[in-house]
Amino acid sequence: MDHVVVTLDGPAGVGKSTMAKGLSEALGIPYLDTGAMFRGVAWRLGRNAWEWDADRLARALEEIRFDLHGSGADSGLSLNGEPLGAEIRTEEVGMWASHVAKLPVIRDFLKAAQRAVGERSSLVAEGRDMGSVVFPNALMKFFLDADPEERARRRYEQLRAMGREADLEALTKSIRARDEQDRNRAVAPLRAASDAVVVDTTRLSEEVVAATLLETVRQRMAGK
Ligand code: DC
Repeated sequence: MDHVVVTLDGPAGVGKSTMAKGLSEALGIPYLDTGAMFRGVAWRLGRNAWEWDADRLARALEEIRFDLHGSGADSGLSLNGEPLGAEIRTEEVGMWASHVAKLPVIRDFLKAAQRAVGERSSLVAEGRDMGSVVFPNALMKFFLDADPEERARRRYEQLRAMGREADLEALTKSIRARDEQDRNRAVAPLRAASDAVVVDTTRLSEEVVAATLLETVRQRMAGK
């Protein structure tokens, strides 16, 4: 049987990772966090790499290899054999990732890496352009959305729950800046694929969104 690919796209802080994790766990397949790939590249190349020329970037990318291991909630990405962890999860690295994500040389490199993973295994792939660009033939495509204020509030609660300092106003600003950059870039801007199911989660609980996604995928798999 062909591999099943489910794509989950949407803006920063909308809950894609939580949903991708839950959905992949329920389906018994791995999930691929492509934001972590952009973050990993940005973190590895370091500050201001987005100002390098394309040749220098291409040479640096030759030294980067990603591997996906595990399944469901235990899916994990490693960069050159090292698991990617909390070091890539800061707002700063998120912004660096959004900068490097504008560059065609980076997007082409990661698109090839993402498709290679999809050829080896069934996948829940989450990001910004999974349904629109990377996996145009995916069995099922979702686009999650929510108001920026609500996304900032969720991120705030998440950080507080982890015992970390958080500033709601700064988070709202950062989310808006990232939206602006991700939606307006020339290459593969953030937008729903024409055949994606759009779910506005602003007023929905996590449980309701998770159940809706799973039910919709199951119906699609059953050919309904
Ligand atoms: O989902 P995230 O916050 O971890 O993603 C970090 C940045 O990477 C995001 O601001 C834009 C970029 N990105 C992208 O351009 N395409 C993807 N498929 C995933 C992430």
